[in-house]
Amino acid sequence: MSDWKSELSNLKKSINGSGKINLQLPPYFNFKDHDAYDFDKALQFFQWDIHGKQVVIDFSACQSANYQALSLLVLYSWRLKSNGCRVEFTGIEEIGNGGASDVWRMMGSPGLFSVCFNENQNFRSNEHKPLVAIRNHADFKLAMEKASEFSKEFNVEYINTLRYVISELLYNTLEHGTAFFEDGESWNKRLPSLIQFTWYMKRDEIHFIVGDVGIGIRRHLSQAYPDLEDDVAALLKSIQPQVSGTFGKSDPYQAKNNAGMGLFLSSNIVRRLRADMHIVSGNGLLHISPSDITTRILANSWPGTFALVSIRLEKNAGFDLHSLMAEFRDSAYKEQDAKAKAESENTLYLSIYNYFGTYPEDKSAAISFRDKRLIPALNQGKRVLLDFANVESSPHSFLSAMLATPFKRLGMAAYKRIKYLNASPEIRETIDFILDDSTSDGELGL
Ligand SMILES: Nc1ncnc2c1ncn2[C@@H]1O[C@H](COP(=O)(O)OP(=O)(O)O)[C@@H](O)[C@H]1O
Ligand SMILES: [Mg+2]
Repeated sequence: MSDWKSELSNLKKSINGSGKINLQLPPYFNFKDHDAYDFDKALQFFQWDIHGKQVVIDFSACQSANYQALSLLVLYSWRLKSNGCRVEFTGIEEIGNGGASDVWRMMGSPGLFSVCFNENQNFRSNEHKPLVAIRNHADFKLAMEKASEFSKEFNVEYINTLRYVISELLYNTLEHGTAFFEDGESWNKRLPSLIQFTWYMKRDEIHFIVGDVGIGIRRHLSQAYPDLEDDVAALLKSIQPQVSGTFGKSDPYQAKNNAGMGLFLSSNIVRRLRADMHIVSGNGLLHISPSDITTRILANSWPGTFALVSIRLEKNAGFDLHSLMAEFRDSAYKEQDAKAKAESENTLYLSIYNYFGTYPEDKSAAISFRDKRLIPALNQGKRVLLDFANVESSPHSFLSAMLATPFKRLGMAAYKRIKYLNASPEIRETIDFILDDSTSDGELGL
């Protein structure tokens, strides 16, 4: 073991000595650590500040890699190229052992530079492992065809639903996630985004990733919402209904019809399908799961955006896309109305479901919401309206993290200043308990 390691480090040194930069793919290149998702592990591989160098990406120590993680390596290699680097790959000769180089080949990745420089070319991937470069409408169509081809054995509602989510993510990367060459004559040439899907038959799961190295959700959304304090805040904002970074650029009334619904509807569909969606943009991570929505700040960032969706297929999925969509739209409109009414009455409105999911329990998200939104609104003299529609239950620790401090500060005025909509009896009871606890020996000492 130590032998090959020292051999590798010698090799690395000798390559460095010749002026090349050697980037060694780690033994396991994927998004998981045992069973838990871990994005930092793969993201720490990428070095973004290399310009004008010869870079060797070495697969030889990588025993296993997953398709979605390796497709990020394609985007990364394009970015290096656009930075004026020469990029080579070594250790991909070995084939047939199911390792990283096989995964790389199955996706057709060796052709990545001809795809990048020729708008009419796309990846020659294995039909079960499609990788598609996305830079124009023809690529969009190709990706949708592959998605249909790919899912033809599934229940028709799955096909339609998958197509819906995939097309929204593709639209977003085409419209908002554009990236360009940064170097030389081709500086105004577009760097493609991409999509990769894999059907893990044994587990009956589909995973797909849509990724770009564009400006990222925070910068895009800041055009319309300049106060977003970090990438996580931007991600949370992006999945709200009728939130769009394009409002800043165009006539808001014209854009209003459909704009800002893509991620809201997709994230709701994903939850209803009992699927998981992770979105990474900058150093923000948003995870939408069937039960909740959680966020995290990553140690490493991705300069652009990627969305990873994993769906467990169920044989007799009892859902119908049309009624699902009607239901989601309806709840979006109801929420918009409540919000507009609240705003006109100097009230901060919050849909708990849209921020935290069906079973809100992320205490640190509650604290962050409390400090960034709730307390400032109360300090400005606003009222607060918390809407619990679609929330099944929420633990005491979550509600207390969000509400105990405001209750303590407001004392008995909390009864008037903070109101609740659609809260189940259990949630009401928990809130009353926290209110009681926070005000009984508080400043009013009643
Ligand atoms: N790939 C991406 N790159 C940059 N920004 C994005 C990306 N995807 C989504 N966004 C941001 O999130 C917002 C919400 O997306 P969406 O709900 O699909 O609405 P719309 O696309 O209609 O604006 C976008 O307006 C944009 O600001
Ligand atoms: Mg969109």
